Amino acid sequence: MNAGFHTRAIHEAETHLGGALVTPICQTATFKFKTLEEAKNAIELSLERDAPGYAYTRFSNPTHTALEKKVASLEEGQAALATASGMAAIATVIFTAMKKGDHLVSAGGIYTTTHALFAKLPAWGMEVSFADQTRPADIASNIKRNTRLVFLETPSNPLLDVADIAEIAEIAGKQGARVVVDNTFLTPYYQRPLKLGADIVIHSATKYLSGHLDTMGGVIVGEKDFLKACADTVTLMGGIMNPFNAWLITRGIKTLPIRMEKHSGNAMAVARWLENEPGVAKVRYPGLASHPQHKLASKLAGGFGGMVAFEVSGGLAGARKLLETARLCSLAVSLGGPETLLEHPATMSHLKMPPEDRAALGISDGLIRMSVGLEDAEDIIADLAAALRKL
Ligand SMILES: Cc1ncc(COP(=O)(O)O)c(C=O)c1O
Repeated sequence: MNAGFHTRAIHEAETHLGGALVTPICQTATFKFKTLEEAKNAIELSLERDAPGYAYTRFSNPTHTALEKKVASLEEGQAALATASGMAAIATVIFTAMKKGDHLVSAGGIYTTTHALFAKLPAWGMEVSFADQTRPADIASNIKRNTRLVFLETPSNPLLDVADIAEIAEIAGKQGARVVVDNTFLTPYYQRPLKLGADIVIHSATKYLSGHLDTMGGVIVGEKDFLKACADTVTLMGGIMNPFNAWLITRGIKTLPIRMEKHSGNAMAVARWLENEPGVAKVRYPGLASHPQHKLASKLAGGFGGMVAFEVSGGLAGARKLLETARLCSLAVSLGGPETLLEHPATMSHLKMPPEDRAALGISDGLIRMSVGLEDAEDIIADLAAALRKL
């Protein structure tokens, strides 16, 4: 569809099946045929993922197709693939692009479960090196002859480090390695990594794409042939998305642009306010001039998103007081929904990481990660202010 981002978010790939305005959910595990020939054709087509041709939902399903086409269009990629979760998307990319003896270079301070998956690769005969994605030279020096993938998560979770996707893509391209970008935090509304030279984009669609903290999913976007190979991996490993979740995520994407604007505006207001609060030692938000990669973030992306990290004075005791006193802001993992969420990496997402590794990444006991929601910014700030007064 040749139209603007808002229009494509709403209208791209809607099927209007049976005259329905909204693409219906095809909540079926299997598909019925009249003849053997028809069954054979459908199985062949569905395994090739060339619609129309559906045989079994683990291979493909029309509700997946609608979501995949919409996300491919928004990310400006050739094709997309829906998976059961963001982790299923990441695992699918790894086990499709890499085999025994291959090497991955990954950004270091990334979502803990992604880091944990990559740390297990040697047990499956693959190699991994973690590098500083804010220093392209560090990524370059870690690339080896057998490096197949460079994995970036930008901005990163939880510290919002920003990577120069274009520069790293150029470095990796010269060495024959593909660049994968986890675009969960900014979404295609603010950042389109494929246009910046990356090869593959992944999403935890559980977050901003679905946007309502009520479902789970993942999406991979990239070249058609690679996506077909990813679909084979999903068919073999079973990490398929439930059609109902595909429907919910497709529905969520229709309001993605306006939600991202509001998340971003609220996050900027909260970050600016936090910076002037005496009980707050540090604030990390790519939209603040104090963020070390603020200029780069402004150059690469159209906005800064809804995630803020800050450090309260008083370490663990200070963090506990704030987190247990806040009323409007909920203490919860995950992100990207209407409700503002506060998360304490040291006791929640990064609990299993040894304290010295956490310290090396800059994750202190006073650090709080905030998913700024869609409430009124003044109410979010008032809630934080009341909680900070108790410190
Ligand atoms: C940046 C990022 N990538 C990937 C994931 C994994 O996604 P999921 O929880 O949908 O498997 C998360 C989850 O929090 C995340 O924050």
